Amino acid sequence: MTRVHVPVLAGELIDLTAPAPGETAVDCTFGAGGHARLVADRLGPAGTLVCIDRDPAAESRFDELSAEVACETRFLRMDYADGLARLGEEGLGADVVYLDLGISSMQVDARERGFSYSYDAPLDMRMDPGQELDARAVLNGWDERQLAQIFRRYGEDPNARRIAREIVRRRSRASLETTGDLVEAIEAALPAAVRRRFGGGHPAKRVFQAVRIAVNGELDSLDRALPLAWDLLPPGGRLAAISFHSLEDRRVKRFLVERARGCVCPPDFPVCVCGHEPEAELLTGRAVAPTAGEVAQNPRAKSGRLRAARRIAPTEES
Ligand SMILES: C[S@@+](CC[C@H](N)C(=O)[O-])C[C@H]1O[C@@H](n2cnc3c(N)ncnc32)[C@H](O)[C@@H]1O
Repeated sequence: MTRVHVPVLAGELIDLTAPAPGETAVDCTFGAGGHARLVADRLGPAGTLVCIDRDPAAESRFDELSAEVACETRFLRMDYADGLARLGEEGLGADVVYLDLGISSMQVDARERGFSYSYDAPLDMRMDPGQELDARAVLNGWDERQLAQIFRRYGEDPNARRIAREIVRRRSRASLETTGDLVEAIEAALPAAVRRRFGGGHPAKRVFQAVRIAVNGELDSLDRALPLAWDLLPPGGRLAAISFHSLEDRRVKRFLVERARGCVCPPDFPVCVCGHEPEAELLTGRAVAPTAGEVAQNPRAKSGRLRAARRIAPTEES
């Protein structure tokens, strides 16, 4: 059954970014529009909400939302990094930009899209079904070293090499076609004793995450998007991101902390010679996690982490 996506850390996102009547906001990851609806309500009839998503299924949800909210709305069906670049070229100034990373519940639950190890389905995992590269091409085409590298880097899987070896061994007999074939390969690569040693939930979880990140170029998009989003903000503008694993959260944290730094001279310099001034005030010290109550109602919120910052004018004290 396809569940409607429940927006994660929604109250916290609204409190921290405080969208106000008449402002312009950009939702980089529209999904089912849960966050977008709350933001639109704050923007009111004089506000503007630009929504981006590369999944065509999100676009039909956007049409419904657009008919129901008072603010001006616009949808860009493309990678959010490309969308932000386009908005920058158009000279848009945005008061609030936010990203809610990863995939939606609708995508996970649409069995035929192959995002979940819980259902047997074709190896797809594309957020944009028009994209050429899919999970089948990665798993049958990339060499053993490349596969081990993505399992390690994007899945942080301690068994990356074993699993890559088993996949390559199996595909020399017959190509992997379904998520079930991938789960079988992973299980065969990890005897019970190894699984017990590494623990940590379903043995396929990390590899599925890794393949999905590779297929959709998720970390590259995030790295490109953060500076483009920042450039849309005038002083006072707010940027927020909800991450679902440490690879994303680390990138968001590094980006915001760098902008919040003042002097970048080496610590042994007696006086500042860099003249570097902070551009950001952090709105979150530590990343904000969902409450136990939210996780009880929506277990998929569990790994969500929210970070936000406000852009400040160069001379403004933080
Ligand atoms: C976690 S869901 C967002 C859910 C949404 N905030 C809500 O409340 O319904 C993430 C969405 O971002 C989209 N997405 C992820 N990476 C993207 C990218 N690089 N460019 C455009 N859309 C992306 C996915 O297709 C998915 O619909």
